[in-house]
Amino acid sequence: MKNILEINNVNKSYSNSFKALENISLNIKEGEIFSLLGPNGAGKSTLINSICGIVNFNSGTIKIDGYDVIKDYRKARQITGIVPQELFLESFETVWKNVNYSRGLFGKPKNHKYIEELLELLSLWDKKDSKIKELSGGMKRRVLIAKALSHEPKLIFLDEPTASIDVELRKETWDVVRALNKKGSTIVLTTHYIEEAEELS
Ligand SMILES: Nc1ncnc2c1ncn2[C@@H]1O[C@H](COP(=O)(O)OP(=O)(O)OP(=O)(O)O)[C@@H](O)[C@H]1O
Ligand SMILES: [Mg+2]
Repeated sequence: MKNILEINNVNKSYSNSFKALENISLNIKEGEIFSLLGPNGAGKSTLINSICGIVNFNSGTIKIDGYDVIKDYRKARQITGIVPQELFLESFETVWKNVNYSRGLFGKPKNHKYIEELLELLSLWDKKDSKIKELSGGMKRRVLIAKALSHEPKLIFLDEPTASIDVELRKETWDVVRALNKKGSTIVLTTHYIEEAEELS
């Protein structure tokens, strides 16, 4: 299997000169489910956000499917989906609009059938006409997952996908992660639950 993600000697210091990443090197193979574990503040989100262009790293290189995330950022981002740790959604729009809008941002043509399947997979179909502000925390997290998958990415980052999700839905979320992996996506996730990492990756 080829490497879908190649990270070489990445360093990141924040503007207050705090060093969050020091010489990180890591390869992830296509088809893997890979878990990043570590205590609060270990640098998991900093790493994921550096890969996805949300954080500017200071040195080193990151390639997604051979595309440099800085030089070839358009290509790299088109094949990448991220579910960020922080909930950030348009609260006054509906689930349906939010997810379809995300797909449009990546320049992909409309595909209502695909978005319908996605919302069904995430148990959100009956909420498609609800406004985001009317959803529970766990439902909002699942909308974030749907948004991240709206443009059919090959490489998916899930930063604590099951935070604030109840025990039953956590198991369902694992099933979703496995189903996406089976369909050919590579998954990188962070978690504080050792059993989640053991179960999935
Ligand atoms: N914008 C910022 N400015 C300064 N320091 C920051 C900033 N963002 C994060 N840090 C610091 O970088 C370190 C790594 O943070 P990061 O969010 O990557 O950790 P994490 O492993 O994702 O933690 P958690 O498990 O709590 O999500 C922490 O010490 C944090 O305080
Ligand atoms: Mg984090």
